[in-house]
Amino acid sequence: MIKKVAGPLVMAEIAGARKGDLVKLGEKHLIGEIIELRGPLASIQVYEETAGLKVGDPVSTTGEPLSVELGPGLLGAIFDGIQRPLDQIRQQSGDFITRGIEVAPLPRDKKWAFVPIINQGSTVSAGDILGTVQETQLVSHKIMVPEGIAGTVEQIKNGDFTVDETIAVVGGRAITMKQKWPVRKRRPLAARFPVNQPLTTGQRIIDSFFPIGKGSAACLPGPFGAGKTVIQHQLAKWSDADIIIFVGCGERGNEMTDVLLEFPELKDPRSGRPLMERTVLIANTSNMPIAAREASVYTGAAIAEYFRDMGYNVALMADSTSRWAEALREMSGRLEEMPGEEGYPAYLGSRLADFYERAGCGTCQGQPARQGSLTIIGSVSPPGGDLSEPVVQNTLRVTKIFWGLDESLAHKRHFPSINWLLSYSLYVDNLSPHLAKIVAPDFLVNRERALKILAEESELEEIVRLVGLESLSPKEQLLLMAAKMIREDFLYQSAFDPVDQYSDLPKQAWLLKTILSFYDLARQAQEAGKTTAEIQELKTIQAIAKARLSTEAENKNLQSDIKDEFHNLIGVQYHA
Ligand SMILES: Nc1ncnc2c1ncn2[C@@H]1O[C@H](COP(=O)(O)OP(=O)(O)O)[C@@H](O)[C@H]1O
Ligand SMILES: [Mg+2]
Repeated sequence: MIKKVAGPLVMAEIAGARKGDLVKLGEKHLIGEIIELRGPLASIQVYEETAGLKVGDPVSTTGEPLSVELGPGLLGAIFDGIQRPLDQIRQQSGDFITRGIEVAPLPRDKKWAFVPIINQGSTVSAGDILGTVQETQLVSHKIMVPEGIAGTVEQIKNGDFTVDETIAVVGGRAITMKQKWPVRKRRPLAARFPVNQPLTTGQRIIDSFFPIGKGSAACLPGPFGAGKTVIQHQLAKWSDADIIIFVGCGERGNEMTDVLLEFPELKDPRSGRPLMERTVLIANTSNMPIAAREASVYTGAAIAEYFRDMGYNVALMADSTSRWAEALREMSGRLEEMPGEEGYPAYLGSRLADFYERAGCGTCQGQPARQGSLTIIGSVSPPGGDLSEPVVQNTLRVTKIFWGLDESLAHKRHFPSINWLLSYSLYVDNLSPHLAKIVAPDFLVNRERALKILAEESELEEIVRLVGLESLSPKEQLLLMAAKMIREDFLYQSAFDPVDQYSDLPKQAWLLKTILSFYDLARQAQEAGKTTAEIQELKTIQAIAKARLSTEAENKNLQSDIKDEFHNLIGVQYHA
């Protein structure tokens, strides 16, 4: 029975209450979760508008934790934070979600063609693949033996089934194509191993400077308008993940609406198929109850792990986790817990860790043997872009990649506005052997050199600020020129230009190498007595500036053109 209603928080006495269990409140059966038990009194966060609930209303526990439903029908779906399909809800109740509405997460009527891969009589256990469903053109959905089931396959079917129909009988238990999993519990891997494969994104500053590995976690903080959402969308579109889970916590009122309209239009660049064929969207619009927002990142993580368990490389984007943390703060405030830094609860750090530590790669449970990975990229939007703020700091504690967005870069319209002086990836060493092998042996050397030039530029800029450009030596002026080329012709990348929006690794390596070899030749020209002004007039500078906008084939003569131009300038054979 309800004792108190305080916004999204309800206190109630419930028979058989357990922390973490789902409950149904009032006559409308609103959904809530027990987040705390003090004596007989349960604190419940309610995933729906609580207006109309009153003291004395009935509450009953379902006896089960908040769970996701896993099975065919996930891909292409757009869910809210507790996995209610938004389309179906809208169809049933219009734009304003009717409270207490019950819609199954996975479609019940749709039949899927199940093709078994094991035989009757074989012995299976949790994680073993029983068969597959071609869920979309892009993805084969593996139907796995659910946790807790093992034994002899007494029956296995072949044909079209709904997710409610039995497709196999194992150890006396009927198995369907759907299973449940508590969202706050990690799905286990059989063995974890260190991150060693890059998740290539086609974004030059990321792949070349601060690479992300399959199975790692990255923190993408930046002030409002710095470009977090654009980067997250670029990653969703271009990274070489098999499956994308996009958890959107809208910052602006209409931002999620944009995502909901935009995503279904996006094409998978590799296959030309709709991106939604390998995507699950979880949308929290700002008008949805905050408790659902709190749950949404776990809902996303559980779905992501499920696809990882099939042997896929999954990438989960959460944009922005600040909205999630604010939901946590608001619930904590209502629970009258002792506030920590900036009013966030003391357990903010451990909750963030619970989420980001679900990233990883390894061997999946079950047969046939397979490996999968889950990469998590969380954007954070601290007020005023302040990186010392608790959500950023606690995220950095668990993630090993920091792509710090810089307001002043965004203001100058340098995109992506990732600050190259502050950002880091602690995976460079892990990924280096692989990058050197698949890209070019000198790729890592060039990367180091470019970063060093940029660091030197920032020191020189300080001097220029104090005593003016004239105080720099010709050598230093040349370095500034090289740095500018690295920034403008390599790091700057338009998300909207059809060619520039994606650079494969060979192109990235080639472009960086071209800029650096220009710099080397320019230094030789300088030693041969040529001035910075003369060098700055070279035509190939313009050609380098345009190279990011054209294909490698179109630039096949660029490196020799550069050499020829320097040859003409110096008048002698250079030694390169
Ligand atoms: N890579 C990019 N190329 C071109 N424009 C960009 C890029 N990244 C961001 N922008 C510009 O910045 C604006 C704000 O970006 P957005 O991702 O919405 O910021 P945030 O999510 O950090 O508030 C975009 O609407 C776009 O105009
Ligand atoms: Mg945004």
